Amino acid sequence: MEAYLQEWVSLLLRWAHFVTGVAWIGASFYFNWLENHLERQNARGGIAGDLWAVHGGGFYYLQKFQVAPEQLPDKLHWFKWEAYFTWFTGFSLLCVLYYWNAGVYMVDSRVADLSSLQAVAIGMASLLLSWLFYDGLCRSALAKKQALTAVLIFAWFALLSWLLSQFLSGRAAYIHVGAAIGTVMVANVFFVIIPSQKDLVDAVREQRKPDPQKGVNALARSRHNNYFTLPVLFIMISSHYAATFGHPWNWLVLLVIALVGIGVRHWFNIRHLEKHSRLVLPFSLLLLAALIFALRPEPKAAPDPNRVYPSTADIMPVLQVRCVGCHQERPDFPGIAAPPLGVLLNREEAVDSQALKIFNVVTVSRIMPLANTTQMSDEERKLVARWYAGKMQTKEERDTDSNE
Ligand code: HEC
Repeated sequence: MEAYLQEWVSLLLRWAHFVTGVAWIGASFYFNWLENHLERQNARGGIAGDLWAVHGGGFYYLQKFQVAPEQLPDKLHWFKWEAYFTWFTGFSLLCVLYYWNAGVYMVDSRVADLSSLQAVAIGMASLLLSWLFYDGLCRSALAKKQALTAVLIFAWFALLSWLLSQFLSGRAAYIHVGAAIGTVMVANVFFVIIPSQKDLVDAVREQRKPDPQKGVNALARSRHNNYFTLPVLFIMISSHYAATFGHPWNWLVLLVIALVGIGVRHWFNIRHLEKHSRLVLPFSLLLLAALIFALRPEPKAAPDPNRVYPSTADIMPVLQVRCVGCHQERPDFPGIAAPPLGVLLNREEAVDSQALKIFNVVTVSRIMPLANTTQMSDEERKLVARWYAGKMQTKEERDTDSNE
C-alpha cells in the first residue's frame, strides 16, 4: 500500500513540477524574446521600444518603458510563483523519488559504500553549498569581471558533478547537479531579482530614484539563470538516457552536454545582434557530434559460427533471481508497486522481445539491477552478453538466408 501511494504522490508531484517548470521557463524565454525583438527605433518619450504580435486569434501591442511609468497602474503582474512552485514541487519529488528509497536510488555499492543517511546528507549539502558558493561569488569583488565569474560558476558545477559521481549512483549524481542549479536559479529569483523589482516599484510609488546597484545585480542573476536553463532541462530528462549517467565518465559527459546547451542558448541570445560571432552554433554542434562519436559502443567481436550460445531458457534462472523481484506484474521488492516502466522479465517471450534493452542495461550501462541491489555477478552479466551475441548471430543468419 505504501508503495502504491508513493507512486501516486510521485505522479502528481512530477506532473505539477513539469507544469510549473514549463510556466516558469516559458515565461522567462518569452520575456527574453521580447527584450531581443523590441523595435527600438520606435523609442519615444520614456518608451524604450514596442512590438506587435499576433497569437491565438488576436493582435497584441506591447511597449517597454525606459525606466518606469510616471504612475503605477492599479494592476501590475509579477512572475514569481511559477519559480517558487517549481522548486517546491521539485524538492518534494526529490524526497519522494530519491530520499524515500535512498538505499536503492542513491547508493551504488560499485561507486561508494554509503548508508542511506550519508547519501541523503551529501545530496542536500550539494544544494546548499552550491547556493552559498554562487551567492558569495556574485557578492564578491570578482563579480565585476563577468567572464571570469561565468568560468568560476561553471568550474563549481564541474567540481560538483565530479564529486557527486564519486559518491552517488549516476542517476542521483546527475539529478543533484540539476537540483543544485535549479536551487540557485530559484534563490536568485527570491533573494535578488524580486527584491530588486520591489525596490523599483517602491521607488516609482515614492517618487525617488531606484537603487541602481540592485538593478545591476538582478540583471546579472537573471543572465546567469538564462544560461542555466538548457543544461538544467537536459538533466531533468537525463534519467531516461542511461548512456549518459551510466557512463564511467558520466560527470564529463554531463559537462560536455552542459557546454553544448550553454552554447545553443548563447546563440539564441546573440543571433539578432548585427555584430555577433557566427561560430557559436557550429562549435556547439561540433562538440555534440564529438560527444556522440566518443560515446559510441565498442564494435562487436566477429561471431564464431561454431560457438554455442546460451538460450533464453538458460538465462531465465538468472533473471528470476536478479530482476523479477521488481520486473513482474506484482513486484515483491519493497517500494516497487508496479513493474518499472512496464518492463516484465518473468516470461521468455517478454525477455526475447526486449533483448537489446536487457543487454544494454545489464552489460553496457550496467544500471540494472537497480543499484545492483540483487547483487548480480560479473559472470552472470557475461552470460547475458553471450546470450545476446547468440541472438544477434541467429538474426544475421536469418537475414542472409532470406537474402539468398
Ligand atoms: C530493485 C528493483 C529492480 C531490479 C532488481 C531490477 N530493476 Fe530494472 N528497473 C527498475 C526501475 C525502478 C526501472 C525504471 C528506471 C527509470 O525510471 O528510468 C527499471 C528499468 C528497467 C529497464 C528499462 C530501461 C529503460 O530505460 O527503458 C530494463 C530493460 C530493466 N530495468 C531491466 C532489468 C534487468 C535485466 C534486471 C535484472 C538484471 C533488472 N532490471 C533488475 C528496478 C529494478
